[in-house]
Amino acid sequence: MTGQPVSDRFQYKTADALRRKAAALGVDLPFDSDVRILLEAADVGGRRVPNRLAAQPMEGCDATPEGAPGDLTTRRYERFASGGSGLIWFEATSVAAGGRANPRQLFLSADTAPAFRRLVDLTRAAAGRRFGDRHEPYLVVQLTHSGRFSRTADEGRRKAACFNPHLDREPLTEWTDAELDGVRDAFVDAALLAAGAGFDAVDIKACHGYLVHELLGAHTRANSRYGGPFEHRARLLMGIVSAVRAHVPGLAVAVRLNATDGVPYPYGFGVSPAAGLAIDLTEPRRLARMLLDAGCALLNVSAGIPTFVPHLGRPFDRPVAGAAPPPEHPLVSVSRLIGLGAAIQSEVPAVPVVATGLSWLRQFWPPVAAGLLTRGMAVFAGLGRGAFAYPDAAADLMARGVLDQTKCCIACSRCTELMRIGTAAGCAVRDHPLYSSLHRAATAPARSAP
Ligand SMILES: Cc1cc2nc3c(=O)[nH]c(=O)nc-3n(C[C@H](O)[C@H](O)[C@H](O)COP(=O)(O)O)c2cc1C
Repeated sequence: MTGQPVSDRFQYKTADALRRKAAALGVDLPFDSDVRILLEAADVGGRRVPNRLAAQPMEGCDATPEGAPGDLTTRRYERFASGGSGLIWFEATSVAAGGRANPRQLFLSADTAPAFRRLVDLTRAAAGRRFGDRHEPYLVVQLTHSGRFSRTADEGRRKAACFNPHLDREPLTEWTDAELDGVRDAFVDAALLAAGAGFDAVDIKACHGYLVHELLGAHTRANSRYGGPFEHRARLLMGIVSAVRAHVPGLAVAVRLNATDGVPYPYGFGVSPAAGLAIDLTEPRRLARMLLDAGCALLNVSAGIPTFVPHLGRPFDRPVAGAAPPPEHPLVSVSRLIGLGAAIQSEVPAVPVVATGLSWLRQFWPPVAAGLLTRGMAVFAGLGRGAFAYPDAAADLMARGVLDQTKCCIACSRCTELMRIGTAAGCAVRDHPLYSSLHRAATAPARSAP
């Protein structure tokens, strides 16, 4: 999974050149030059979704201090909606004041719920103005507790499911089982508010190292209903899914799931007990079947812990400032990531899967996504950084069948830098001058006082 650092920049002028590179690297890259399947409707839990193009959850770090959507938050979702995405997956939204990953993360509470209702209405209205009544995007909100990555005013009280030597410099306080029961209830309360706000679905975020996902890999958490054997590690996720299904029956439940963490056993999920970082999908596949049985309507497959193995879930050319270049060619990471989604899709064909990791492909992601969908490797093609950069990609595909190369994401990591600094995050290259000036201001060397 890792090797020598690679700083090979994207240099492919044609799709054929990209495919030749994939062949030279020995990786599978599905391909279909007929991209019309991306614009076909699909079904999620009985609700029609107008096309197969999904805006992935992308934190903008621009909520009000109370956690309500701010002006830039509204701008982002209106752009995704008027840009034509059929599925809009709203970013990580905390279910608890103390569970926010940054002070400007969204927080769904009784106080902020009316502002979420306005955000949903404005998002739907933006889609309707551009595409009419028949194009009603499917809106999912990602509910989360940031766990060990929570950045609250009282940092000293950060807690983890269990000590993870790959992520923690020193042991953190461990959540008690009773506290985790309370976290489950907080998810249910937030799901009720999400239904009232008009979302079609809630995602119980189970990826990227945040609390619900962290527990999936909590092999070393001892004497707990939430740690050790698989059934215990899956208890929080499954408990939330079942409770939301029971208490909020009209709301669909989705899960964004890490298929593998890239953190060695016994500190990660989807890794082989026998061999360090080797992927083992036995448990992720089993979990997908359990989610199907529990009534989960939609899956979104990701991988890795962003601060530990960023290339695994977010293939890039240029790393964030000060970090190492990717340890493998990004095309290897792209192929692995879409392959992980395909493995889960084959396990639960009845649950549509959103494929992750296409943005690095620039203007060539549509034929790769079309190849994925025609092969049944996923039902939706998700764009994360690509949606920040090019929110109207779907509209361009509808109008012309191809993308405008000058609007595509270039995998430069500047959006991640903005998020890490805690500044409002967006595309500092394509969404100019708004985010380029924020990026310049945030990364300028501090001026010394005269
Ligand atoms: C600035 C930024 C914010 C992100 N926010 C979220 C988030 O809120 N929830 C989530 O599950 N993933 C988040 N991600 C990960 C993306 O959804 C996506 O999985 C990743 O960027 C890879 O997809 P891509 O190649 O299309 O960008 C974020 C990524 C970036 C760069």
